[in-house]
Amino acid sequence: MSLKEQVVASFENTFGHQPDGVWSAPGRANLIGEHTDYNLGFVLPFGINFRTYVAVAKRADRKCRVASTIDSKIYEFDLDGEMPKNLDWALYPLGVAWVMRENADFGFDAFFDSNVPIGAGLSSSAAIECSIALALNEIWNTNHTKQELALIGQKAENQVVGAPTGMMDQTASMLAQSDGAVLLDCKKLETKVIDLGLTKNNLVIAVIDTKVAHRHSDGGYRSRRDSCELGAKTLGVESLRELSLSDLPRAQSQLDDLTYRRVKHIITENQRVLDSVSALRDGNLESLGRLLLESHSSMRDDFEISVPELDLAVETAMEVGAIGSRMTGGGFGGAAIALIAESKLGELEIACKKAFEANSYAEPNIFAVVPSEGARKDS
Ligand code: GLA
Repeated sequence: MSLKEQVVASFENTFGHQPDGVWSAPGRANLIGEHTDYNLGFVLPFGINFRTYVAVAKRADRKCRVASTIDSKIYEFDLDGEMPKNLDWALYPLGVAWVMRENADFGFDAFFDSNVPIGAGLSSSAAIECSIALALNEIWNTNHTKQELALIGQKAENQVVGAPTGMMDQTASMLAQSDGAVLLDCKKLETKVIDLGLTKNNLVIAVIDTKVAHRHSDGGYRSRRDSCELGAKTLGVESLRELSLSDLPRAQSQLDDLTYRRVKHIITENQRVLDSVSALRDGNLESLGRLLLESHSSMRDDFEISVPELDLAVETAMEVGAIGSRMTGGGFGGAAIALIAESKLGELEIACKKAFEANSYAEPNIFAVVPSEGARKDS
């Protein structure tokens, strides 16, 4: 049975009636551009071939109920009531419903099933938010564009879940395309699809999930955001997006060392995203590989969001012959990606498992991801 068929069967078992439709949205990996989104810069993520499906039916009353394969509970809130506490994973979908509820005349039942790895830094939460946002947009007739729905997902995460994250994950999950990565200008909210040329070069993007758990509602992510805001304020700009490489000497002289290194990561990372797009357009894989590695070093040394497991994943991928490799996502755990010849995927898996074992780290999970379509209605 496909995941789509399974979600319908689970819906019927749980709620005792049929869904009105099924919607889905992918997780994402980010090729390059980390922590640049909330600094209104550039990111280059793509949707992955792991999706969250949601079966949804309208209700006659004003209850919003959600269930999933994660546990056997039904979580709910009433459109006229308060947002309950202790919602666990259900905070993501009910948070979206909460943000969208203004024009809702009736509630809904929803059942989620997903093959997006949880806690791997592949945005399993954005996949939940985007699948339900697209579904509610249709049943509640709210007529939002996909970009607006992505910002609604971000709002739910910021205001209901309490994670001060940017817009990248939801935008990628909403607007991803099967043939490339999405270059997003987070200030202008403009997107462009950039061909990755993987198939014609016999390359894959491998994910190395370190199994190190992370949460962006914890202090590390927020403190990086605070440093960026302090840097922008001290340098007299609205966001770090306004600065370029030529501002680095001034930033160094005006900022304390820690804030300078945080700011330096953002300024150089924005440039690396733009340079990566040029490298992809020119078919210059060597240059792209170098940029991925520089991005990783910048996150390890200046932004300080890597962990030893991620560094080891990147080192091992390069030893096996990857073109480039870097941690992906918010950091403090999660996954690294490696751009590597398809023929070397098996070797990469063996080498990573061996290297992790030698360091007494948990066994990593290695698999290839394929750029895939964004949120959609499946039936
Ligand atoms: C997390 C956040 C995103 C982004 C990345 C880092 O995934 O949800 O908004 O800030 O970290 O690039």
